[in-house]
Amino acid sequence: MATRIIPVEPFDLIIFGASGDLAQRKILPSLYHRLMAGQLPPNARIIGAARSDWSRADFHDKFKESYAKYVPVQEQDSATLDAFLECLHYLPVDAKGDGGWDEMSALIDTAPNPIRAFYLSVSPSLFGPIASQLSKRGIATPNSRIVVEKPFGHDLASAKELNRQLSVCFNEHQIYRIDHYLGKETVQNLMALRFANALLEPVWNAQHVDHVQISVSESIGVEGRGGYYDTSGAMRDMVQNHLMQLLCLTAMEPPAKFNADDVRDEKLKIIRSLDPVRQDDIVRGQYRANSNDGSYVEHAENTDSSTECFVALKLEISNWRWSGVPFYLRTGKKLRARMSEIAVIFKDPPHSIFPKAESRHNGNSLVIRLQPDEGITMHMIIKEPGQGGFRLKEVPLDMSFAEALGDNGEHVADAYERLMMDVIRGDQTLFMRGDEVEAAWAWTDPIIAAWEGEKPESYDQGSSGPDGSLALMHRDGRRWRSIEV
Ligand code: BG6
Repeated sequence: MATRIIPVEPFDLIIFGASGDLAQRKILPSLYHRLMAGQLPPNARIIGAARSDWSRADFHDKFKESYAKYVPVQEQDSATLDAFLECLHYLPVDAKGDGGWDEMSALIDTAPNPIRAFYLSVSPSLFGPIASQLSKRGIATPNSRIVVEKPFGHDLASAKELNRQLSVCFNEHQIYRIDHYLGKETVQNLMALRFANALLEPVWNAQHVDHVQISVSESIGVEGRGGYYDTSGAMRDMVQNHLMQLLCLTAMEPPAKFNADDVRDEKLKIIRSLDPVRQDDIVRGQYRANSNDGSYVEHAENTDSSTECFVALKLEISNWRWSGVPFYLRTGKKLRARMSEIAVIFKDPPHSIFPKAESRHNGNSLVIRLQPDEGITMHMIIKEPGQGGFRLKEVPLDMSFAEALGDNGEHVADAYERLMMDVIRGDQTLFMRGDEVEAAWAWTDPIIAAWEGEKPESYDQGSSGPDGSLALMHRDGRRWRSIEV
């Protein structure tokens, strides 16, 4: 199905850290795709900024390598590449010193483009210095946007400090904190599913829901990011942000309107309603070596590491809608498959008229598959066909978005494509607000602090995680859905 493209206004986008992995692997290829889709105006300018003393031609060469690597062959097109390179400029800039800033002012001043966005794909320690340079040199205007990547802090104190540094130069309505999960089509679909269908709302509460499972399982390991990852771990890398966002969208009240503040107000209320998590409701894990591949500690190059690359936990939301409903979250690396889903498991009917022995099934559940094969499955109970007796059987009512939307194999937009265009449009709905990030850290910090000196449980690569994670569910008489695609 052809997607509707609404071209954006002309803009200048300055990407700090433009020679880095994220810019080359995600940000620039995403902009290339938007140009190809016809969404970028011809006079848009994308200005790479980094420490490397490159010319514009060097930067073009660097991007051509990334293009060959990260843009799928069927989406490579030499005319589009030429047009993209026309938009692509480069300036060597010293974030903390004086080098390159005058050139940036001069380049920016030659553009009539009213929209300026600064994308900070750099270490958080540079957020403050860059913001202050942009402001004191008059490069940022009151209408400019600043985009910052995760990790947004390491804990509450550092997140507050980053918010403080940014707020000296930018207002909250100018700050775009990225969580790329919010740019995923299916994550946005969660809101459509909940708030555009009258069917679900009456049963979306503690009266009808037994529990919720949110799983983000990865088959890859730490893949050369061991150094960063070992200082972070799954709790900071995935739960504090991506899983927290999924939890909020699943549990929040309907916002009054689909706009940035109404949506973020409701998400914030959920984070603030989270009960502190008990230590025996959390399981942490590290994958061990197998005959083909090393262990987590080898990949992290830290044999003493007590950082988790798997976490499973049970949490509760203290509000009227969800009181008493456990939410189980899990995420980990080197698991059986790459699979992300939200499963809402409903309670059994209040009274069964069918003989118990004939009713072996898991009851109703709604599973929202975020990736891969995005879609929704409603598990229903029907009568097993045949004569004699009245046996019940669970069957899936399955919808794949690709099939339902008549997928014709056209390009599926990456989360960054959507998010970059929202920055240019000035729409903050799919970005995190400062108070939201701080609230998420306020909930996460005590959990991490309590782990001091404790080693995670080890688990087999290609498994569903440590045994403790299965026990976390069994203890409550429940089971994780299996990790499979
Ligand atoms: C990133 C994490 O934010 O998300 C990575 O830092 C993780 O560790 C990645 O692999 C997962 O994203 P996706 O889009 O592949 O599910």
